[in-house]
Amino acid sequence: MSAGTVTVSAAGLAESASPVLELTEVTKVYPGTPPVHALRDVSVRVQAGELVAILGPSGSGKTTLLHLAGTLDRATSGQVLVTGLDVARLSDRQLAGLRASSVGFVFQQFFLAEHETVLDNVADAMLYAGVSQATRRAIAAEALARVRLGHKLTARPTQLSGGERQRVAIARAVAGSPAIVLADEPTGNLDQHTGAAILDLLEELNRLGTTIVVVTHDQAVAGRMRREVRMLDGRIVSDAASQPAPSAAAAAAAASPVAPHPWDGEPR
Ligand SMILES: Nc1ncnc2c1ncn2[C@@H]1O[C@H](COP(=O)(O)OP(=O)(O)OP(=O)(O)O)[C@@H](O)[C@H]1O
Ligand SMILES: [Mg+2]
Repeated sequence: MSAGTVTVSAAGLAESASPVLELTEVTKVYPGTPPVHALRDVSVRVQAGELVAILGPSGSGKTTLLHLAGTLDRATSGQVLVTGLDVARLSDRQLAGLRASSVGFVFQQFFLAEHETVLDNVADAMLYAGVSQATRRAIAAEALARVRLGHKLTARPTQLSGGERQRVAIARAVAGSPAIVLADEPTGNLDQHTGAAILDLLEELNRLGTTIVVVTHDQAVAGRMRREVRMLDGRIVSDAASQPAPSAAAAAAAASPVAPHPWDGEPR
């Protein structure tokens, strides 16, 4: 599902009638003694088709921002619109529906169900989307093929490498064609080559039209996105277009002059 009509200009920049995500003067205070002001007056807007990096030191509010954007938590004040819907006006049940239909999450820890097959890990992400199990599995198989794991449908997560597990997590995030994918340090647990391959995959999904926001500590990761939002102490301190990133192939070659991508040549 996408928000509004999307047209892609010759420059590859998406224009949309309404933003997929819009935060206006959002604050988040975690109660305690003393209370923690995790977000202070944050305003940011993400249009359909964007690929955005959120950068900032530890504790600057990146995960908090992602949780509010993904409706996993509520703002203390300010407004959060997801696909144009004001999340403060939605019940918990409506929020669960909005998450299921419009938001995909990729976390640093993979959060896969170890006892379930790869296929069902992905299919179960659509449990609340109101489609039959057969349809969920068909969509899941297609998403797993997109991340080149079509040959691992019946494997258990324990039988996969770290990079493969993260690809399952990405397949799960994109399976229901969400309006936006929110990724929190998606390469943080991976070695450099596997991490680069995960970024290639996110870029490829973005080229196919998925709106993606990636939280990272890593300037090299952010350098591959088209827009960089920098946070410090709960505030956005800059928000600008990135320098033109090298092509994915050039970046991978620079990171690894000899080794191919970890799953190049694998069957789909
Ligand atoms: N559930 C919580 N209860 C209380 N304080 C919290 C909670 N979650 C985060 N915080 C605090 O809010 C601030 C922002 O945390 P957040 O997790 O958003 O930072 P971050 O930028 O994601 O950091 P990191 O790069 O280390 O993941 C920190 O001071 C943190 O200690
Ligand atoms: Mg964090």
